[in-house]
Amino acid sequence: MNNGDFLRDMLAKANKEGYAVPSFNYSCAWDFLAIIEAAEEEKAPIMVASHSLVFNMMTPEINAAMGAAAMKRAGIPLIHHLDHSNEVSICNAAIDLGYPSVMIDASTLSLEDNIKAVKAVVEHAKAKNVCVEAEIGKIKGNGYEGGFEGKDFLAQVDDAVKFVNETGLDNLAVGIGTAHGFYEGKPEIHFDRLEEINEAVDVPLVLHGGSGIPEADIRMAIKGGINKINVGTIIHCTLMNSFRKDLMELGDNQFTLDIARPAMDEVKEVVKGWIRKCMANGKA
Ligand code: 13P
Repeated sequence: MNNGDFLRDMLAKANKEGYAVPSFNYSCAWDFLAIIEAAEEEKAPIMVASHSLVFNMMTPEINAAMGAAAMKRAGIPLIHHLDHSNEVSICNAAIDLGYPSVMIDASTLSLEDNIKAVKAVVEHAKAKNVCVEAEIGKIKGNGYEGGFEGKDFLAQVDDAVKFVNETGLDNLAVGIGTAHGFYEGKPEIHFDRLEEINEAVDVPLVLHGGSGIPEADIRMAIKGGINKINVGTIIHCTLMNSFRKDLMELGDNQFTLDIARPAMDEVKEVVKGWIRKCMANGKA
């Protein structure tokens, strides 16, 4: 059964064998299916994630049912995850609907309030064997998943230790310079801080803001202790750009399915590239 323990084992294996489990954000059925097809062809363990906008727009019930069906039928280790939710109630709703993993993002609050919010979700999640991810420091940029434009983004080691110890969270997202959305210029990732946090805490670490991070930096991040890497913007941009290109070429009155398959194939190529960057290919 693909529950919290299943994810704990997936991330422990990645840590031991030196790769990261990629977590891909989807926004509709087409990219959702393309991501899973790509992972099956690459024989890779992955996560598929809906952030809270998708969760609400698709409706929590339909979203959860799609995830549950996919986890049951996929030919690879697959975990359906709720990405960035600012509300404890949304995380708890996802837990009740069978999500095996959720992220409560209260990183814009004070450390004490962040701890309080995470503890509330962890309490609810524990009874149902669900993993909880939470964030220390801030992910920069500007995307659906949130963003931060200020200078005070870097996770502090002492805060990370207190955060992990007091909340009982499972997976820790670290603000080390990465950003949601595409980067302007080269990302400046604080690998030294990543290593310090990795030394100080004993939980899997998560890198957000994957789209646009060069392969060499991804490899450095994995070496520095990252076990899960989130990728979103490049997925929905690839899908929408493919739709747009085909619609422009084909003109009016096209059937959805005529443009869905080529778009899915383009998404699959992007996903496969990311699986290989994370060195998760062949690890299923
Ligand atoms: P990108 O959209 O920048 O790839 O980031 C995704 C992410 O971190 C989701 O939490």
